[in-house]
Amino acid sequence: MTLDVCLNQLMRELEMLATFSDDPAPAVTRIVFSQEDRQARTWLKELCAGAGLSIREDAVGNTFARWEGSAPELPAVASGSHIDAIPHSGRYDGTVGVLGALEAIRALQRAGVRPRRSIELVLFTSEEPTRFGIGCLGSRLMSGTLDPLRADDLRDSQGEGLDELLAAAGFSGPLASVALPAGHYHAFVELHIEQGPLLERAGIPLGIVTAIAAPATLRIEIEGEGGHAGAVLMPDRRDAFLAAAEVALAVESAAKATGAIDTVGTVGICGIFPGAVNSIPSIATMLADVRDIDLARRDAVLEAIRNRAGAIAAARRVTIRISTVNADRPAEASPLVVDALRSSAARQGLEYQPMVSRAYHDSLFMARIVPAGMLFIPCRAGVSHRPDEYAAPDDIERGVRVLAMALARLAE
Ligand code: HGY
Ligand code: MN
Ligand code: MN
Repeated sequence: MTLDVCLNQLMRELEMLATFSDDPAPAVTRIVFSQEDRQARTWLKELCAGAGLSIREDAVGNTFARWEGSAPELPAVASGSHIDAIPHSGRYDGTVGVLGALEAIRALQRAGVRPRRSIELVLFTSEEPTRFGIGCLGSRLMSGTLDPLRADDLRDSQGEGLDELLAAAGFSGPLASVALPAGHYHAFVELHIEQGPLLERAGIPLGIVTAIAAPATLRIEIEGEGGHAGAVLMPDRRDAFLAAAEVALAVESAAKATGAIDTVGTVGICGIFPGAVNSIPSIATMLADVRDIDLARRDAVLEAIRNRAGAIAAARRVTIRISTVNADRPAEASPLVVDALRSSAARQGLEYQPMVSRAYHDSLFMARIVPAGMLFIPCRAGVSHRPDEYAAPDDIERGVRVLAMALARLAE
């Protein structure tokens, strides 16, 4: 089967998608259900319709574009990713997996392939945690990993509820209707940039993911005592931010203390109240992200953070409340999908590297209900979640080509 990937068209589409942004190029900011996100979704649906795909949207805005196979009653093969982008990020995270899957379908159509199983492009809602504090909202609901009742209560930092935002974006129906049964799909494959430097360093064009790390997010709320920055003497202070600073350092030291390179800990959000230069912080709120490929080791880090926070609270006479936003288990890639990707790469004489995904993806949750796997392409210097995120056209083309042949094999 000779596949021709229309790389120029795909690069133009990636370029166009990047223009739906709340920040000027080269940065991309596309928060879920923002005006930009909604316009991007409309544009994408037009592209899918142009490829003759039938489109369905579920109650949380997951979007399905289906290429009907000759045996439509069989469980379909799915491929996709996300188009929401965190603030001041890049144009390839997620989008390569959505537009790349569309181009893979178009390449198969052009090659005259008639898949037995239908092939479905999936755009997942809110893969990024930016708006609602929890990532992979669409695939969590699809896989039954998130209680719809909890999702109903989600609000963004402006207090806007998920339900209001869904209605404004034109989505309706109970969130309980989003869940798909195991067996709904035959296989799921996600094409994604590596978001790390290993492929580029090794000079290997493709990564076949063997496992996806287990992410956890802690919400840490610290209450001390405010006061005048000049009048309150140091021994009398109960400064919430300084306690938060110690807890943030505890996140770092707990991650490093495992001695495993796979353990990572990050405090990416920290809010201070009242936030005046001459007022002692009375409240500090942080979100900590802790991940590891080993679940027990990750959970031990969470425990160490809680213990250390208790000691800091006592020493600084502040109150520290820690709640778990999410604590997910890791996912193993399915041999069915790994084999399809490996044989597809081999047939094209392309070298690949088996590897772990340190970033999480919708595949982490799809793996709960369907044999799932991921195909990585390099990104320059491993940079991601930054405006200088970059994937070379040739790498994108190789990824789409291998994805297309793997989809064809899984759908035959
Ligand atoms: O944070 C992640 O791993 C993903 O990029 N949302
Ligand atoms: Mn991301
Ligand atoms: Mn992503």
